[in-house]
Amino acid sequence: MSQKIYKVPEDFAALAHLRQADYQRLYQESVRDPNSFWARIGRRLDWIQPFAKVKDTSFDEHDFRIRWYYDGKLNVAANCLDRHLTKRGDKTAIIWEGDDPKLSEHITYRQLYERVCQCANALKSLGVKKGDRVTIYMPMIPEAAVAMLACARIGAIHSVVFGGFSADSLAGRIADCGSSVVITADEGIRGGKRIPLKTNVDLALTMPNTDCVKHVLVARRTGIRVPMYAARDRWFDDVVNSQPKECAPEVMDAEDPLFILYTSGSTGKPKGVLHTSGGYLVYAAMTHELVFDLREDDIFWCTADVGWVTGHSYVVYGPLANGATTVMFEGVPNYPDCGRFWQAVDKHKVTLFYTAPTAIRALMREGEEPVKEWSRSSLRLLGTVGEPINPEAWEWYHRVVGDGRCPVVDTWWQTETGGILISPLPGAIDQKPGSATLPFFGVKPAIVDNEGNTLEGACEGNLILTDSWPGQMRTVFGDHQRFIDTYFKTFPGRYFTGDGARRDEDGYYWITGRVDDVLNVAGHRLGTAEIESAMVAHPSVAEAAAVGYPHDIKGQGIYVYVTLIADAQPSEALRTELRDWVRKEISPIATPDLIQWAPGLPKTRSGKIMRRILRKIAANEHDQLGDISTLADPSVVENLVRERMNRP
Ligand code: WTA
Repeated sequence: MSQKIYKVPEDFAALAHLRQADYQRLYQESVRDPNSFWARIGRRLDWIQPFAKVKDTSFDEHDFRIRWYYDGKLNVAANCLDRHLTKRGDKTAIIWEGDDPKLSEHITYRQLYERVCQCANALKSLGVKKGDRVTIYMPMIPEAAVAMLACARIGAIHSVVFGGFSADSLAGRIADCGSSVVITADEGIRGGKRIPLKTNVDLALTMPNTDCVKHVLVARRTGIRVPMYAARDRWFDDVVNSQPKECAPEVMDAEDPLFILYTSGSTGKPKGVLHTSGGYLVYAAMTHELVFDLREDDIFWCTADVGWVTGHSYVVYGPLANGATTVMFEGVPNYPDCGRFWQAVDKHKVTLFYTAPTAIRALMREGEEPVKEWSRSSLRLLGTVGEPINPEAWEWYHRVVGDGRCPVVDTWWQTETGGILISPLPGAIDQKPGSATLPFFGVKPAIVDNEGNTLEGACEGNLILTDSWPGQMRTVFGDHQRFIDTYFKTFPGRYFTGDGARRDEDGYYWITGRVDDVLNVAGHRLGTAEIESAMVAHPSVAEAAAVGYPHDIKGQGIYVYVTLIADAQPSEALRTELRDWVRKEISPIATPDLIQWAPGLPKTRSGKIMRRILRKIAANEHDQLGDISTLADPSVVENLVRERMNRP
């Protein structure tokens, strides 16, 4: 672990929203008297009916409730658009940067407002009402943000599905929430490669339980010819452009749902994480302002796709609620070359830049040249999110990308948390490379051992949260019991994050990664159970076990042990076929890196696969297997060690 401390730069602190003493004072206040603290913060939004009640939460299984600002009424889209029009009507809301570096577009708050109203009216004309679900399966084009905000405006619940997911994954997500409309594009384009979005939608809608979908809106991105089914499909522009540019915002209760976002857990199929309106927006806006030390003239660029929670909170909702200029990037870090990020930073004079460690590590491997070609002089703060950042990558980001001038905020949070929970506040908290540092206001982390005993002082164990914060998810769509079972049963009465963490002598948190069966591959969350169930759906596969192993660029790679059915023969061709199979079943992001043929898997006498052993073998730590005497057949381990795929 790095022991180095990077002090808050004095010149940065001088202009920052909060300094060291402010953090201590406000943090104490936020946990001592959350009601009055969050009441004050809640007033940053425009309420149609102001709230009088603030926090009503209990993680006790028998008295479970999470409600914030619960007698208030508001509209999220009106908070992101309408209230900025008088002062910021001509300010750029979205800078769209295309996959092709020659393409970009500026959209002002007024233009975005009109576009969102038109799209909202279009959805209404298709019969979409408050509470209905709308699936958004789009590339990173402005229409994606327009569609999200249009749903928010009329009170429909959006479910954005990442454009990299397969037709199968899309179908499952459509069926689970019963969407009546799908908004998509003809094709996506990323890194010069085309993604057949409309074709995937067509295929998805032939799959079971997707007949809830009555309409498909198709935005034109590449202009390719795609089949349009007359009764169901309409061009986005045809339906939207003719609509009036005003649409009264629906009056929503603070606790009315805003969106569903599917995410992987340790078991079963992905869960529909449900976020509501008031608390979520308060929390996204406030963290966006303070963690990134936002100023009026900042150009904020979060490189995430809107298909992930980072894109929801820090491309769309947080920045727009704050009246900021947000960059929406269609491309990838290494196309057309490895200077792509920094070229676009210079082009748009980006001041605040937020990306994932996996991108930093990949660019680091290409050396300093592609960075140094660009000035990057507009940058004043750098951020990371999505997975632990190794100190070496942190230092490189700070020294090379930030020229040693810019604070780095390593922000820890989850789809479930709605916004950042542990992070430096750049003017207030000294940084240590590799540490997410200290909790945000109102956040009460603790570390417990496997029996649930709270550990004090410097320690390592399971990361939990002992109290609620406004951005917390409220339920799993359609399965409230699963919500309680997943997060509040392991350590009763407390929220279990699924992450391990260490706390040092200064009270700083160091996230060590998932302690459950969730993988984090290049910042993308995947469940081992999903990969296994895709694998065993292949006719030649009898059984499969997926684990993560340390990977230099991606953080974790995917290692799958496969037992074939009796008449299937292992071969290189079959290996390739199985990799392609999983890509097609789930997504290219779930492609196994290594597949090992396993005549047998290590199981206990009761038939449970001992993943601990499989993880050790995949990590080349087969000299540390621990006790294997409880296995039904210890000899399978010898074979797996001998045949392992990940020899250094
Ligand atoms: C991991 C992404 C270390 C963690 C916002 C968490 C991190 C999971 C960090 C959530 C960080 C996210 N340091 N680990 N700064 N940020 N993680 O739901 O394991 O896609 O539980 O949300 O990513 O991933 P998700």
